[in-house]
Amino acid sequence: MRNLIFSVVLITSVFAQNYELPKLNYPFNALEPYIDEATMRVHYEKHHQTYINNLNKALQGNENANLPLEEILKNVSKYSDAVRNNGGGHYNHTLFWEILTPQKNTQPSAHLKNAVEKQFGSLDSLKSLINQKGLSQFGSGWVWLIVNADKKLEVISTPNQDNPLMDVVKVNGTPILGIDVWEHAYYLKYQNKRNEYLQNIWNVINWEEVSRKYEKVVPKSIFDDWVAIKEFHKVMASTFHPAEEGNLEPIKMRSQELLDKAKNLKTAPIPGELKSKVNLNTIDKLIKDCEKVHKLVKSKAKDADIINALNQAHDTFHQIIGECRH
Ligand SMILES: [Fe+2]
Repeated sequence: MRNLIFSVVLITSVFAQNYELPKLNYPFNALEPYIDEATMRVHYEKHHQTYINNLNKALQGNENANLPLEEILKNVSKYSDAVRNNGGGHYNHTLFWEILTPQKNTQPSAHLKNAVEKQFGSLDSLKSLINQKGLSQFGSGWVWLIVNADKKLEVISTPNQDNPLMDVVKVNGTPILGIDVWEHAYYLKYQNKRNEYLQNIWNVINWEEVSRKYEKVVPKSIFDDWVAIKEFHKVMASTFHPAEEGNLEPIKMRSQELLDKAKNLKTAPIPGELKSKVNLNTIDKLIKDCEKVHKLVKSKAKDADIINALNQAHDTFHQIIGECRH
């Protein structure tokens, strides 16, 4: 009998994942006056803790309990409503605390800012779109900025504690910013004025953290910071690809420009993080390769010879890109 009890205890403890409240990186009063101390305290210590307690209970004895929470949420239709509501509650609030900060005027990274401007026009238009969605979410829920399957930004809202990872919501993606529009998030200070809460929350959004989350899903390309390689790539792409298809006109017109852009790689600054990775000998080799292409073009060499030389330059260019990625 004792053995049986011992085995039951052992089995349930193997299957029980014990979620705990994540550490809050700032005091409860740090987001004043935009989010008040009393709301923060109750929201974190009571509401979030309750989701965690109920999630631990709901997963007890479940054979998938030890999977990462994200994995559980991605297949949440196979679990109980208690796992959906409380797993969502734990995940959503954890993200919420992370994307808030008492630090003033944090800014999105250049990479995120570019994507925002490309898709929404400006950061301000993105904010009003999020506020609009948050306002029109009927009852309790969340408004999200996500990276969707096409790696594009998208603003969506979900009811209750659902989130964009779940297989039960219409639009899936990776959330990089989430705003809680449950009344418990704002009622003590703002009562029914959700609009005012949404206007004010932008004062405490941690854009650095949102950018980190974005760049995990859409990593920065080396082209973003290294202007000289971006310019070289433009000329290489518009001369090499036509040549591959038998059209040598572009390279014949632009071999001098290709050579200049290659030389520029040596003289223009290489961004700090790439400096240690790029082998300067490879840049020298690229310059030599481009010199060869240019000489052949000038001396009106056979097309086949020009193509071979251009191929070589293209390979060397990819060697540089490869070095950057390691
Ligand atoms: Fe909440």
